[in-house]
Amino acid sequence: MSWSFDSQAKMPAFLALLPLVGLLSASQSRADDIVIYADNALAAGWENWSWGSDINFAATDLFEGTSSAFINSSAWSALSTKLEGTFPNYAGLKFDIAGSQPDLTITIQSSTDGAVSPNILLSSISNTITPNAFTTVLIDFSNLPGSGAALGPGTWDRIVWQGGANGAAYHIDNIVVVQSIVVTPLFLSAEPLAANTIAVTTQGAVDFSTFTVSLNGKAVKISNTTSYVPVGTPSKSVTYLTLNTLFVPGTLLINTGVENGGNQVFNVTLPAVQYVSIVPGVNYTISPAIYGVNFPSSSQYVQDLGIGISRWGGNAVTAYNPNGHFTNAGNDWYFENRVADPPDADAWVNMVNTGGSSSFLVVPSLDWVAKDGSSYSYPASVYPGQAKTDPFNSDAGNGQLPNGSWITTTPSQTRAYTPWNTDMAKTWLQGLANKPDIIAVDNEIEIAASTHQDMHPDPINYDEELARVVNTSLAAKAALPNVKVAAPSTCAWWFYWTSMVGYTDNAAHNNIDFLPWFLAQMATAEKNHKKRLLDYLDIHFYYQADTSANDAAAKALRLRMTRALWDTTYVDESWVGVEPQQNHQWNPTRMSVIPRFRTLIDINYPGTKLSISEWNSQADTDLTGGLHAADVLGIFGREKVDAAMYWGTVDENGPIGLAFWLYRGFGTTFAANSAQVNLATPLPDTQGVYAGTEKGKLTLVIINKNPDKPIAFQVSNLPKGKYFLRHFGGQAGLAKWQTNIAVTSIDYIVVPAYTAVFFKQS
Ligand SMILES: *[C@@H]1O[C@H](CO)[C@@H](O)[C@H](O)[C@H]1NC(C)=O
Ligand SMILES: *[C@@H]1O[C@H](CO)[C@@H](O)[C@H](O)[C@H]1NC(C)=O
Ligand SMILES: *[C@@H]1O[C@H](CO)[C@@H](O)[C@H](O)[C@H]1NC(C)=O
Ligand SMILES: *[C@@H]1O[C@H](CO)[C@@H](O)[C@H](O)[C@H]1NC(C)=O
Ligand SMILES: *[C@@H]1O[C@H](CO)[C@@H](O)[C@H](O)[C@H]1NC(C)=O
Ligand SMILES: *[C@@H]1O[C@H](CO)[C@@H](O)[C@H](O)[C@H]1NC(C)=O
Ligand SMILES: *[C@@H]1O[C@H](CO)[C@@H](O)[C@H](O)[C@H]1NC(C)=O
Repeated sequence: MSWSFDSQAKMPAFLALLPLVGLLSASQSRADDIVIYADNALAAGWENWSWGSDINFAATDLFEGTSSAFINSSAWSALSTKLEGTFPNYAGLKFDIAGSQPDLTITIQSSTDGAVSPNILLSSISNTITPNAFTTVLIDFSNLPGSGAALGPGTWDRIVWQGGANGAAYHIDNIVVVQSIVVTPLFLSAEPLAANTIAVTTQGAVDFSTFTVSLNGKAVKISNTTSYVPVGTPSKSVTYLTLNTLFVPGTLLINTGVENGGNQVFNVTLPAVQYVSIVPGVNYTISPAIYGVNFPSSSQYVQDLGIGISRWGGNAVTAYNPNGHFTNAGNDWYFENRVADPPDADAWVNMVNTGGSSSFLVVPSLDWVAKDGSSYSYPASVYPGQAKTDPFNSDAGNGQLPNGSWITTTPSQTRAYTPWNTDMAKTWLQGLANKPDIIAVDNEIEIAASTHQDMHPDPINYDEELARVVNTSLAAKAALPNVKVAAPSTCAWWFYWTSMVGYTDNAAHNNIDFLPWFLAQMATAEKNHKKRLLDYLDIHFYYQADTSANDAAAKALRLRMTRALWDTTYVDESWVGVEPQQNHQWNPTRMSVIPRFRTLIDINYPGTKLSISEWNSQADTDLTGGLHAADVLGIFGREKVDAAMYWGTVDENGPIGLAFWLYRGFGTTFAANSAQVNLATPLPDTQGVYAGTEKGKLTLVIINKNPDKPIAFQVSNLPKGKYFLRHFGGQAGLAKWQTNIAVTSIDYIVVPAYTAVFFKQS
């Protein structure tokens, strides 16, 4: 690897420059590189579009050359530089940075058309940025860190380094948009897959002529090589080698025959086989609506990932005013009004339908909606002494005193809101050009006294919540006779069983837990109104265990806690598993969410469907989040969930996007019917196996949750023959890898470590 920096010559001797991060190197600085910053000021042609930041472009406490820029950004603020002109086709961005691992998200933007690159987290490039010496960072525009996506051509003219919730303080120097990047040819990974395939990922112009494979000491011939460049992440490619020998337990040595960055040999231990049988005769329909998301970014996104249902929902939707398209962020952001984004629910339904998705529209059901795009409920000028104010608007307070209590004055709803009622909801729904398939009665209103404290300061009790559901459902069904109604979209485990009023409310209802009580009341409402007013019991599901540490233990927990959804023996690894009973449920330390709600429905209101309109893996940008999501999508199918929507708009090429792609990408879908899977060694902590059939063709998804060990199965009832295969994860990383393979034996099918694989019979 050869690389050099212009700045090195000028660098003071005491300043050691740490090695370039990653496997790439920028070529020698060239005349056509665009310097953004070298010393004392932004280079000619660059404008300072920063905000909320103290910036010294001539800092001399740490520097290369004569000075560096010292940036101190408050929460969500940024260093931002804008070129007078564009850099449409450059290779990358290079800069030197020093700080205590500053929390920065970098984006490349176009001020002409508003295009923005995927978020590039500095932490996804390096975790070892230190305050007293510079680390050089190189972002390859053909392989953006984190997503692996290509930036692609565009009218790029702006670069933003944005701090996180706690801001960011750092020195930055030698910022250059580089014209070319030298990619060192490398074999990045080589992993056994299926019966006799090795997936080899590469960068640059590698040469396979020196490549050899041996299995348990015997040389193995390669009978076919097929290469593939994935959609969206073209900087790496995969080459599938078909061996003319089937895998067996033992040692697989894959020798690149070249030095290969110090990694000449990939040495894989092939494990003992496990037995699994697939039983297509035990089956039921899988609802396409389990493959749903909240707020997909475009109809193309919906189409690419095969999104079955899309939800317009979340905290801000409670205040959505369709007359003007305003909303209010509530407690998520200083109770401020804004223009909704996307603005128009009607156009949004059309957008998701165009991509092939059905729609799930949340209808505001409290008594107020945002009156404009700029008001806010707690002006500091009216309510002095609040704990916090918006860093971008010092007059907008958070409504709380420094001791955490809400301000004592009753808020005036008319400051930010205009009245709303079910007649207005009915008029709105009636007038929609694009009819939603399902409407939901608001969003988590059981906690409105916190999330929308300005609008509804009194805790909502059992009776009020029921009345709002009944009233909104009557209005919606009057406006749209075919619409299905979902409610009450309760936020999490605690509030499934009680209200914000507390146990006096349970006591006032014969000590019946909230959701079972609610179901029984909706059964009565059907009798009273001579029609079903609740089609889907809708809950939000958020794990109570905390995996935010994201270390090895947290990742393993993240991957096994999917058992909370289905496994009646899994004791939750959170307060739910240890605290005294806070409800009247059987086995209260074992969530077994889906079986539990099926039972509660059967007892209290048979025929009601079950939807989970928010769920999340706790790790949208980590591979384990993607493996978790792939496991959950398999579970939803197997456990007969009727609809489910991932919370958050995730990157199409990121780990969660890949889980959806695995099951549904580009028109190749997992089966319409499930099939029973019997594992001799179930091991749900470390593996998931899901099967189904469609028009006589078998599909299979296997998720290996082990970080470092392949797993292997003998799969009885898997027909031999041709299969379409997709996978992501493991050493191969996050990309839409796929190929066609021939399964000539079902005796030993291998899935690499930390990998999810999809097989579909051709
Ligand atoms: C750059 O912009 C920031 C944020 O507006 C400002 O604080 C700073 O003084 C500006 N620096 C220069 C040199 O213009
Ligand atoms: C950054 O600014 C904040 C707020 O003004 C200040 O408390 C902090 O000390 C500054 N950090 C550095 C490293 O100068
Ligand atoms: C491959 O790994 C196995 C198991 O760790 C080890 O016994 C063997 O020596 C390794 N072989 C090579 C060539 O590195
Ligand atoms: C699904 O189950 C039914 C009932 O057992 C059976 O008749 C049907 O053949 C099964 N479908 C497949 C694809 O095996
Ligand atoms: C916080 O301070 C307010 C005003 O002094 C007071 O009314 C309230 O009881 C306090 N809350 C707590 C939790 O101490
Ligand atoms: C629900 O509708 C009934 C009948 O119109 C009305 O009396 C009641 O106040 C409404 N409840 C709520 C919470 O809006
Ligand atoms: C190699 O495998 C690919 C992918 O399955 C297939 O399309 C191609 O025909 C095979 N080539 C030979 C020579 O068998």
